[in-house]
Amino acid sequence: MIREMTRDDLPAVNEAEADLFASSPWPEEEFIYEMESNPFSRLVVYEENGTVLGYADVWITYEQAQLANIAVLRNAWGRGIGSRLMEYCIDYAVKSGCENLSLEVRVSNQRAIALYEKYGFIKAAVRRNYYEDGEDADLMIKPLGGLLDDSDISY
Ligand SMILES: CC(C)(COP(=O)(O)OP(=O)(O)OC[C@H]1O[C@@H](n2cnc3c(N)ncnc32)[C@H](O)[C@@H]1OP(=O)(O)O)[C@@H](O)C(=O)NCCC(=O)NCCS
Repeated sequence: MIREMTRDDLPAVNEAEADLFASSPWPEEEFIYEMESNPFSRLVVYEENGTVLGYADVWITYEQAQLANIAVLRNAWGRGIGSRLMEYCIDYAVKSGCENLSLEVRVSNQRAIALYEKYGFIKAAVRRNYYEDGEDADLMIKPLGGLLDDSDISY
């Protein structure tokens, strides 16, 4: 099930951050800020039989949504949990009335990029030297249906 993150989840989340984002893990205070102080944040975990296997953080700022974090514990990769979390975030952003959902991803992170492309994210720009180690980020955006398509326009 997917539910809101609580402080009890932090040991598992900290361990996952250190493993998955070795060069730039979010510190525990960042998660606490997102959970308790950031009014724009929706921070959730994916839990199975009482064990946290993944988490995601989506920011809703008026008509824009941004995926700030998404991660699945390494030993649970490839089981569809990342997809479940992504579907939750997309649904949450749509229900919040957002026009698009954006994210940044390391250009080398083929696994994550494959997940994003599966859900209709399109590369919109490259952010040079985006990460502390100098790697570039792809800015990817998914339109959420708030935008007009041709059929809505009369000439
Ligand atoms: C990226 C991540 C969240 C994906 O989670 P996951 O639970 O493995 O994802 P899923 O099982 O739902 O697979 C989603 C898609 O990833 C891709 N994928 C799955 N296994 C793959 C593999 N072995 N190699 C490459 N791509 C793969 C596929 O496109 C897959 O969709 P499909 O199975 O319908 O074809 C996870 O690998 C992760 O936490 N990585 C480290 C943290 C990270 O990089 N986060 C993103 C930062 S921007």
